Amino acid sequence: MKTSFPKDKIEIVLFESIHPDGVAELESTGYTVRTHKGALEGDALLEEIRRAHIVGIRSKTTLTGEVLERCERLLAIGCFCAGTNQVDLETAASAGIPVFNSPFSNTRSVAELTIAEIVCLHRRLTERSAAAHQGQWDKSASGSHEVRGKTLGIVGYGHIGSQVSVLAESMGMRVIYFDIASKLPLGNARQVGSMSELLAQSDVVTLHVPETGTTRGLIGRDELGRMRPGSYLINNARGTVVDLDALADAIRSGHLAGAALDVFPEEPARTGDPFVSPMQGLSNVILTPHIGGSTVEAQQAISLDVAHKLARFVDTGSTVGSVNAPEVDLPEQPTPEGGQRPHRILNFHRNVPGVLGQIHKAAAELRVNISGQYLRTREQVGYIVIDVDPSDGEEFVARINAIPETIRTRVLW
Ligand code: NAI
Repeated sequence: MKTSFPKDKIEIVLFESIHPDGVAELESTGYTVRTHKGALEGDALLEEIRRAHIVGIRSKTTLTGEVLERCERLLAIGCFCAGTNQVDLETAASAGIPVFNSPFSNTRSVAELTIAEIVCLHRRLTERSAAAHQGQWDKSASGSHEVRGKTLGIVGYGHIGSQVSVLAESMGMRVIYFDIASKLPLGNARQVGSMSELLAQSDVVTLHVPETGTTRGLIGRDELGRMRPGSYLINNARGTVVDLDALADAIRSGHLAGAALDVFPEEPARTGDPFVSPMQGLSNVILTPHIGGSTVEAQQAISLDVAHKLARFVDTGSTVGSVNAPEVDLPEQPTPEGGQRPHRILNFHRNVPGVLGQIHKAAAELRVNISGQYLRTREQVGYIVIDVDPSDGEEFVARINAIPETIRTRVLW
């Protein structure tokens, strides 16, 4: 009987110091894993990955269409981060290579930073600390407040916003939120009907919206003017959401008592590059270099999340969590008592009418016994998974491979 491709023959290459827990997870499933501390580019990158079945990267490795076209064995790509724009997703999809990422593993880290900043702004903590470092002893209560009883206004009540909500309430804050979608309130939080309502009622406004056409410039001069005198603004979402010149004026005029920003309309590409912002040097303004999600715990969670998704795809064909391939969530293949596990055929094909008909015609002609079938399409690509009786597998696969629209077929024997 034919057996699945041996696991230790699956070659995985991981770049950019991926957290060891994810590496261990992949090794424990039996794959051969090679790791690199940094990113590679050009010929060195190609040489290292051209025979790999799985490639894992973070943000500094670029996988262009040209590179992907030369990696014939590549089954899947893991982006061990939230972003995926370092990969040519379209070329990958049209070659039947799903790309996986981990968009929500750093949610808690961003929420905790936000909570820390709410307290820091209310106590002017960063200023007091900087002064003490410079030998100044400023032991005054002026401008310092407790957060208990204050109103926190959350804009965007998704993964991060809702976590901030729970943590803020546990410190005794009153929480209101505005979201374009109707969201179930957690704890005693209350959804308000408009941004204006939120801005007028909040002692602190924190932004947790994605970057979209409707959120670009969401907080400008008008919105800042509608915030309460002496209130604070936090932006740990995306830099384009806030007009920084208007915010700088609001701080200088004393209308706002402080702000915390982790993201900027233009951010330096790498550590050490110069950073310039109209917010620099302003009183009670905390500036951080887009580190909201950057914690060891988030790195660990990301590495495990992406490793699980990759292993699940290799072992079962499941594409759940893929950003570019049709998502198919597959159940385990049941093994009948005393019998053999069905063969699972995984086929990526060009999404044009008639492919399913050709597959079914082949099945009918070969009298293949199909025990399960799952199909999803996405833009140019279709993904079909078919479980068949073991005795029916090989010839059926040959017929599927002969269909001109087939991109690639893999079989779990
Ligand atoms: P999410 O998708 O779970 O939630 C976003 C929420 O915003 C959704 O409930 C959505 O309905 C709402 N929304 C969209 N447009 C809106 C609008 N115009 N007005 C009000 N609400 C609107 O996203 P998640 O994971 O909570 O992330 C939020 C933001 O945080 C994103 O911009 C993300 O890029 C950013 N982020 C920043 C990090 C950092 O290092 N500072 C790390 C991780 C995420």
